[in-house]
Amino acid sequence: MPNDVENPSDIVNADELARPSSSRRDPELLREAITAWLATKVDGDAWVTDVQIPSANGMSSETILIDADWAGRSHHLVARIAPQPDSDPVFPHYDLDRQFRVIAHVAAATDVPVPALYWSEPEPGFLGAPFFVMGRVEGEIPPDVMPYTFGSWVGDASDEQRALLQTETIRVLAQIHQCPVPGGLDMPHGDETPLQAHIRRLREFYEWTIKGRNGSPLIDHGLTWVADNLPEESDAVLTWGDARIGNVIYTDFQPSAVLDWEMAAYGPRELDIAWLIFLHRFFQDLAESAGMPGLPGLLRREDVAEEYAKISGHHPQDLDFYTTYAALIHAVVMFRIQCRAIDFGQAHAPFDPDDMILHRATLEAMLAGTYWENVK
Ligand SMILES: Nc1ncnc2c1ncn2[C@@H]1O[C@H](COP(=O)(O)OP(=O)(O)O)[C@@H](O)[C@H]1O
Ligand SMILES: [Mg+2]
Repeated sequence: MPNDVENPSDIVNADELARPSSSRRDPELLREAITAWLATKVDGDAWVTDVQIPSANGMSSETILIDADWAGRSHHLVARIAPQPDSDPVFPHYDLDRQFRVIAHVAAATDVPVPALYWSEPEPGFLGAPFFVMGRVEGEIPPDVMPYTFGSWVGDASDEQRALLQTETIRVLAQIHQCPVPGGLDMPHGDETPLQAHIRRLREFYEWTIKGRNGSPLIDHGLTWVADNLPEESDAVLTWGDARIGNVIYTDFQPSAVLDWEMAAYGPRELDIAWLIFLHRFFQDLAESAGMPGLPGLLRREDVAEEYAKISGHHPQDLDFYTTYAALIHAVVMFRIQCRAIDFGQAHAPFDPDDMILHRATLEAMLAGTYWENVK
């Protein structure tokens, strides 16, 4: 039940809009700044030989690829940099050091594959914002632009290979959920449950987003709906937060690195399971609305639930609720990204603010309880 996407390249434009030029950095200046910073981190001479700013995947923090030489060899690194405050970032707060500590905790406590960690630099002075540096992992990522459902290595693979990718991704999810909960996550206030706290934070983010402008009646409705339809919660665990295949580097269809821990949170594991399912549906619906078959056999709701139960022993509960909540979270983030594009003069405010949500029809159908019956 997707909205019509008349021109699939609109999706590319949406991503471009989300990365306004003012938040881009100059590779040569970066190279000099990182070389100076590296000198404070390693013994002996160190110099950066190359800096690249990739264009695809990723909308909020900046990710840059760095090649550097020290101690007699080359190092292939990735730096994740908080956005510059003057770029009107998508989120009100970025805590790169917390992300670094969550990844370090997961690396120490589990077999979940994560990039090798080098340093976290909380001082904004070096690159204009805090950042951390990790090892670069080779492999393939299902692309967001154009979405992997529009034709990609995922679609070119065999059914068996895709099944392997699916199972091994779900296994990683189950491993994350077994990890002891790290310190430093946002915890519930007062007598809130972890899910209620999660919803409150979404609401706070949305209220920040719409300050001084019209909100979205659909999102208002969604926030009321989730508050009115709270399920019984399974035990809270560490959730990855942005649990989708577009945040995994695969080698031979197996995860070799789990990326993007910005949304890691304390909450029921269904948050991650539903995000994994919903984000695929989002890309699948886009493909179908563009007249393409997409990958209807991948990450099907029942299959994901069944495989997760088989691997972990926990039967996911209330996925109607959690997939609707996932669609709502995605709607709020998308609304924010569109508000920002409008403020930058890169998009026009539509007559109906709900039209700023690309998957508006999906969210409406989920809230009406009719979405899943129409999924083939
Ligand atoms: N350690 C890494 N090794 C290789 N590529 C990486 C690594 N970290 C990030 N990337 C690249 O940067 C992109 C964005 O990273 P990600 O952590 O998903 O951030 P975000 O999506 O929030 O911008 C990834 O899709 C990938 O292409
Ligand atoms: Mg990402």
